[in-house]
Amino acid sequence: MAKVAIVGATGKVGQYAALSISRIPYVNEVQLYGRPGSESVLDGVARDLIDSFAATGTDSHVSWSCNIEDLKGSDIIVLTAGVARKPDQSRLDLAVENAKIVADFSQKIGRIAPDSFLMMVTNPVDIMTHVALKYSGKKPNEVFGLGTHLDSMRLKSAIASFFQVHVSEVHTRIIGEHGDSMVPLWSATTIGGIQISNLPSFAQVPIDDIMQQVKSSGQKIIASKGATVWGPGEAIATLIRTILGNENRILTVSAYIKAEVHNIGDVCIGVPARINRSGVYPVPIRIEPLEVRNFQNSVEKIRGITREIFS
Ligand code: 2OP
Repeated sequence: MAKVAIVGATGKVGQYAALSISRIPYVNEVQLYGRPGSESVLDGVARDLIDSFAATGTDSHVSWSCNIEDLKGSDIIVLTAGVARKPDQSRLDLAVENAKIVADFSQKIGRIAPDSFLMMVTNPVDIMTHVALKYSGKKPNEVFGLGTHLDSMRLKSAIASFFQVHVSEVHTRIIGEHGDSMVPLWSATTIGGIQISNLPSFAQVPIDDIMQQVKSSGQKIIASKGATVWGPGEAIATLIRTILGNENRILTVSAYIKAEVHNIGDVCIGVPARINRSGVYPVPIRIEPLEVRNFQNSVEKIRGITREIFS
């Protein structure tokens, strides 16, 4: 059984992630962490969460704390803390601001919970994953970000809807940045086990519209309801279940890649990775030349911003 801690548990994503994490059978303790001053909100979140347990039959211990030292003993720590992008703020400005917050937490987490996995949710997630890796002192397979897992889920739904098939029949993934330069892998997309380009109706797929829809999904939701919550919350819980259940699933997360994958390295970015109880392991794959080029562009973009932050 495992203890999962959520740093930033007063936020909308943190709160919903707490609910979905509490329902994972391998989790017996959910810890909600918030900054000093957030005691009353954390207490409310914990009580609301516990109230849900009688209905779902959940048997987890819920605790909350504003003392970072209480993260000790966590098996997985989910970092959702950070500021949201303001309308006049560039991605780089946001990255600089959040990097300070993430570096500070990561350093402390590295000391307090040296054996835990660290999952990054704070945006821009690929850069924050690299900051967390650097400042936590953890191994690359122990630090990962939500990355393009959620984007891959969004693409999966869009394809299922176009072909009018059950979502479980679609396998697809998006690699690269969790952002504008993300790269859909049509070469790795299957429906009912059939390569999508082998289906006659593939020619009718409005690829550009679908990708526009996937890329703007988060922004549209933020514009209408203030935050994306259930999508990221469920995506977080899936990754935690995959680790704790030693499921060996291949999911697309932001992970550190060295030079051997596509000959581009020293970056944290969305790649397919085998995930189990020992962590996250990028899987080298062969993709189409155009996909490689687009992936290289995405890597260069993220690596450039990351290096500016580290300089
Ligand atoms: C999302 O894509 C905004 O990263 C968040 O839902």
